[in-house]
Amino acid sequence: MTTAAILTAAGSGARLGRDEPKALVDLCGRSLVAHAARRLVASGAVDLLVVTAPRERADDVARLLAAEDLPVPVTVVEGGVSRQASVAAGLAVLPQAIDVVLIHDAARALVPPSLVARVADAVRSGHRAVVPGVPVSDTIKQVGQVSGDGAPVLATVSRERLRAVQTPQGFSRELVDRAHVAGLVRAASEATAATDDAALVEAIGVAVWLVDGAEDAFKITTRRDLAAAELALTGHLAVDELEQVDAALATLRSERRSPAAVDREPAENDAGSVDEAVS
Ligand code: C5P
Repeated sequence: MTTAAILTAAGSGARLGRDEPKALVDLCGRSLVAHAARRLVASGAVDLLVVTAPRERADDVARLLAAEDLPVPVTVVEGGVSRQASVAAGLAVLPQAIDVVLIHDAARALVPPSLVARVADAVRSGHRAVVPGVPVSDTIKQVGQVSGDGAPVLATVSRERLRAVQTPQGFSRELVDRAHVAGLVRAASEATAATDDAALVEAIGVAVWLVDGAEDAFKITTRRDLAAAELALTGHLAVDELEQVDAALATLRSERRSPAAVDREPAENDAGSVDEAVS
């Protein structure tokens, strides 16, 4: 099976309080999108990487990723008005040969390569839609109408069967294409768009399978999250993992896969490819 990863990096990152897009924010000397791309590829499960970038920064994203010398072809496309639209733009440029698609948020920059492999393996073993998830530690309450000073509590939801869902999410190519086509009308604004791709699959009545997620795959949204990510990377656990990512990429570079294996077809809205730089 031939697997593509779509890495969504076209968001603004307003909640981080920075002028630049979140994916370009520095974390210990590397942008969030570069961290995420290295970890996706270090899993060994990815044959081709497509990255969605903000229109005005697509060249910068392509340059940053070329500098990583990733051992798989990398294509950068312009993102859309919503995350869902950005993923659709990524799906539109996938070559015919791709039959498994992993979709990952650059905001989950420290995703462990082992989690990427776990999701890909679950799809390859026959689950057509796979999400990683972690148990919820807070008590969850359902509330009524929210007003300025609070909201009435309606119920306490048992958390035993609740999971906070992460990325990468993995799909059979045919299913994720079909789910995005069916949900296309929602993509026009973030208010109506699906917040994850599995929701589009659920909407067409196809079962989604959940595998164990990972604490390190947390989403970097606020400045506090960025500080936590810095701490994780400078702490002894993450340093060990960084070395593992470096070692995995070095091995993959030495066995560099032939781009011909991916049978790439040119696509109209391909905003800039760094294939030459990485192949
Ligand atoms: O905004 P949020 O954190 O939910 O975005 C999740 C991921 O989707 C981020 O990695 C962001 O860069 C990406 N995104 C995108 N295109 C958009 C909005 C968000 O690729 N229009």
